[in-house]
Amino acid sequence: MDTAPTEAQLTRLLEAAVTVAANAYAPYSNFRVGAALLLAGEDAAIITGCNVENASFRLTTCAEQTAVAAAVAGHGPKIRILAVAVANLNHAPSQPCGACRQTLAEFSRPETLILFPGPDGHTSRRLLSDLLPASFTLTTPEPT
Ligand code: THU
Repeated sequence: MDTAPTEAQLTRLLEAAVTVAANAYAPYSNFRVGAALLLAGEDAAIITGCNVENASFRLTTCAEQTAVAAAVAGHGPKIRILAVAVANLNHAPSQPCGACRQTLAEFSRPETLILFPGPDGHTSRRLLSDLLPASFTLTTPEPT
């Protein structure tokens, strides 16, 4: 499944993001975030993650990042992300942070769709290329 996601798939993706947000470990911020990734491929797998905080605050992992790690662990290094849904249980707007945009870009395409709680209380939809127009990329140099 390499085509654009269907509305039914996006609905399921949003539901999965809400469901996994309940598993967030967020005792410091109380901001519980869930992320769900729709992967390219025949089975159109949905992989989820939640934020995992740490008493040493900078070690906190965002929901999007745990979802990407789970996707690679479960489906290997060649995954492609077709769409991402982000949700939180705090009824707050929350776009993926800058670091998460770069993490998602590693396994996405410019046209990958990102759904997140928008400022108007509705779900916003943006292309990854709009949220992160100039991601960092690295071409591995030839060994000398
Ligand atoms: N958080 C995410 O999980 N994803 C984001 O894109 C932004 C922030 C989490 C990190 C932290 O546990 C809490 O939200 C408050 O910043």
